[in-house]
Formats: sequence, structure tokens, C-alpha cells
Amino acid sequence: MGVTVTAGPAAGTDVAALRFPDGFVWGTATAAYQIEGAATEGGRGRSIWDTFSATPGAVHNGHTGAVACDHYHRYAADVALMAELDMAAYRFSIAWPRIQPDGVGPANPAGLDFYDRLVDELAGHGITPIVTLYHWDLPQTLQDRGGWTDRDTAQRFAEYAAIAHGRLGDRVDTWTTLNEPWCSAFLGHASGVHAPGRTEPGAAFAATHHLLLGHGLAVRELRAAGADRVGITLNLAPVNGPDADVRAVVDGLQNRIFLDPLLRGSYPADVVAAAERFTDWSFVGDGDLAVFGAPHARRGVNYYHPFLVRGAPGAPGRTAYPGSEGIEFVETDGPTTSMGWEIAPVGLTDLLTRLARDYPSVPLHVMENGAAFDDVLTGGKVHDERRVAFLDSHLRAAHAAIEAGADLRGYMVWSLLDNFEWAEGYRKRFGLVYVDYATQRRYPKDSALWYRDVARRNGLREAP
Ligand code: FCB
Repeated sequence: MGVTVTAGPAAGTDVAALRFPDGFVWGTATAAYQIEGAATEGGRGRSIWDTFSATPGAVHNGHTGAVACDHYHRYAADVALMAELDMAAYRFSIAWPRIQPDGVGPANPAGLDFYDRLVDELAGHGITPIVTLYHWDLPQTLQDRGGWTDRDTAQRFAEYAAIAHGRLGDRVDTWTTLNEPWCSAFLGHASGVHAPGRTEPGAAFAATHHLLLGHGLAVRELRAAGADRVGITLNLAPVNGPDADVRAVVDGLQNRIFLDPLLRGSYPADVVAAAERFTDWSFVGDGDLAVFGAPHARRGVNYYHPFLVRGAPGAPGRTAYPGSEGIEFVETDGPTTSMGWEIAPVGLTDLLTRLARDYPSVPLHVMENGAAFDDVLTGGKVHDERRVAFLDSHLRAAHAAIEAGADLRGYMVWSLLDNFEWAEGYRKRFGLVYVDYATQRRYPKDSALWYRDVARRNGLREAP
């Protein structure tokens, strides 16, 4: 593909003033539907994101992941690029409909072959694979039976997990079951801005439960098959504001609804009571909570921004937070990314130290952190100094959490490549590497070279 990464300082010559613990894992993250393309190749079945992105008005400008970054065909060059950037780890997701086109039954060998080749390519470059089993692309056939609102989907997910591990488990030892189940449940079923695009709050709670059940059943399968490092990746956010009761509503729906069942063995009582307007919780079966509570050895945290909330009688709330009527999600005056998300690195310190305090004993990994900006390609370069500043400040925040006692073991930038940003289509660029979609050429941005140097020296050059 002809990508050249400018040589940087040789390893060892550039000493970090702010060092991370030895063995800290530096990497980047992607997801199948956002980069692979080749939507109808290799026997891949249809996913809910194929259906959703084909729905008029659902995705910006009618964009779809049909071609995306064409990573399915260009994976070898993409892995070589990661190696040039000195990445120790690569977090990617497996497209379930490549493995089981209809979500049930025997594996599609061509689908497994693709990930087999990818894992071998990574191994050949000394890059550790971190596999996410579900990053939102549910086989459409399962959606037609109710998707995550149907209990059977949890069982199907565990079977798929076992198939994927059966082929890759000899070379992959770090597994994430679900990526951001909050988004699958609440953006997918309450606000409807993500696939499958439902707007029924009760369905969001049923989906939450079956996602957690699927996670627990998959953990059992993976552990029985010998996998050691198994976890889940949650999108968590500090919730700030003047009124504890108001904060608790949003914190419950964003954070505790997942953390408590996973780590304390019960749903939070306040969330259960508040959601009774929308659901009778009859989907909760005897023993389910014990299944989710199956010990998992890793916890992935995706952090983008905190929330500021306050009571505002009459405010409509947000549809993604059922029961948030009367709450205003306050826009802050500070700097934002091009997603409109507040840039607040201290939120990452707050989050990691809270997890270490309230839910101790499981090592943490930042599985996603990053920012979209309106990047401009000039003369083959992208001078994205705001992304460099974003990453620098968030790494300082992560380091502060480590100093305060959080057992943080790694950090993955979202994302390696510019890609299909879900409902926003291709207009939001999160990559360390710029993708010219017309030619599929990759251009490492300044942030990619900066991050490579951070990884090489295991830290930041400047002292705090
Ligand atoms: C997260 C998703 C990831 C990407 C980033 C920006 O919610 O896990 O796929 O879209 O946001």
C-alpha cells in the first residue's frame, strides 16, 4: 500500500519523564462492522447493522459499512502498519455473521479462516490480539426472532463464543465478550439511534438482561475451554451535578445497571424500582444473577466524556435514559470534540479510581479512549495537534489513577483507522491513521507518530 512511517527516535534513546508500569500494554482498537467491508463475501450473513444502515434516515447520508476501510482485503497491510507504529496489542472484533451467518448452527469455515489469517498475521508481527466477540453486529436472523429481547439469543451467543474460541483459542488468550452493552440495549432499543432501532424502553431493560446473561454464559464456555483472560467492556461515565438524587438516576442507568449485577450479584434496587414504569422484570430467571456474576478476569473500560446533570422540572430528559424526565443533561462551555463531547480528562481519573474503590480486585484496561476531530489531509500529512493533546491529557489522567492505586494494565486508542462511526457514518474521524475512502490509502496522522513514541518509551516525555 506504500505507507511510510517516518523514523522516530530509536527505542531507548528517548526516556519517559512520566513512565507507566512495566508491561503496560499499548494498543489500538477497531470493530468489525466499522472497518471490514466485504459485507457479502466469505459467506457472511446479514447483520442488524446492514439492515439499519439501509433504513432511510438512520445513518448520516445513507452511509453503510458495506465497504468501510476494506480491511477484509487489506488486513495484512493494516497489521504491518500497526507494527510500524510499535503497537503491542490490537483489539478487534469478530463479526458473528461471518462465523454463523444465521446466528445458529455450524460454523462457516470461510469466516473463521479470515480471523485465523488475521491472528497469524498479528503473531507474525509480535502483536497481541485482544478479541471482542460482540461489537453490535447481531445476525439479522436472530433479530427476526427478537434479538436481545429474546432469552434464547444469550444461549446462541455462548455457542458462537465457543466456536470462535475453538478456532482461535490456541493463539488468543484475551477475550472481551461484549462491547458496550449499554449501547446495544439503550441506543438500540430505547432511543433507537443504533440498530435495531427500537424505541421501547421496556425492551431496553430486557435486552440489558439478556446481554448480561449472554456474557455470563459465554464466560463459562470460554473458561471451560481454557481461556484465562476473559472480560467485558463497558462504556462508563462519571456523572456530575449538584444534586445527588439526580446524579444517581443517570449513574444507575449508565453505570450501576451493569456494574452491580456483574460485580455485586444484584441489580441496583433504585434502578429496578424506577424501571417498573417500563417493565415488570419478568425476564429475570432464577439463577441468572449467579451466571452473570461468574468471575471474570478482566474489565474493559471505554471512556469518552462525563455527564453533567441537574434537576429541571419539565425537561424531557433523554430517551436513551428511560425515566430521566425532569433531568437536564447540561452542555458545558468547555472544549469539545467534533462529536460535541466535552473534553474532560479528569473524568478518566475519576472513573478508574471509583472502579478501583467500589469494585476492586479485577484488573482494568482502557479498551477505548480517543476523539474525533475535523482532520484535514494536506500533502499526505494530517497535523492533528488537538488529538495529540487529547491523548496526552487522558494518558496523564490514567497515570494519575494508577498512582492513586488503580490496577490499570493497558490502554487502547479508539481507533487505529478512521472508520464507519455508526449513525454518524464516515463524517467523524477517530483514527490515528487517516483513511482516504476514495483510494483506501492510509496516512498516519501526527498523533499516530506521537503515540508510537509514547509506546516505545512506555510513557510521556514531559513531566506533569
Ligand atoms: C464507542 C464504540 C466504538 C466507537 C466509539 C467512538 O461507543 O464502542 O465502536 O464508535 O464509541
